[in-house]
Amino acid sequence: MKILVLNGPNLNLLGTREKNIYGSVKLEDIKKELEKLALELSVEIDFLQTNSETGLIEKVHYAKNNFDGIIINPAAYTHTSIALMDAIAAVDMPAVEVHLSNLYAREEFRHKSYPAKVCIGQISGFGQHSYTLALRALVEYILSKKTL
Ligand code: DQA
Repeated sequence: MKILVLNGPNLNLLGTREKNIYGSVKLEDIKKELEKLALELSVEIDFLQTNSETGLIEKVHYAKNNFDGIIINPAAYTHTSIALMDAIAAVDMPAVEVHLSNLYAREEFRHKSYPAKVCIGQISGFGQHSYTLALRALVEYILSKKTL
């Protein structure tokens, strides 16, 4: 099983960015942690970050014939991008939206997510563990569909 993990704008700055909200974990640390879990679960992951909306959309398209599922932290595009939502709907693949912070404990504009409407679910507020929880949930989901 192959899972694509996508990270949106400014997540490359984790570790120095708004540490009071995101802590001091770096994206590279999250990647390593997820690769460890992937090994345990016997799945492959590809972990990418881009600051561009186009980049995220093109990676979602690419996932269609190359991956079994998507984990995505769309960062600020969560709250603005109908195009990203449409891309996830278009590929019709299981996707999980993740956030380090608890969106619902923050500003009101962060309470709205476009991609969440077309994802299986959303995991928000567990810091780096949001990603490992998402991987476990997505793998379970895909395996349960395969045995149906
Ligand atoms: C975020 C939450 C978003 O609102 C914000 O724009 C981010 C990070 C998170 O992981 O908590 O860049 O996606």
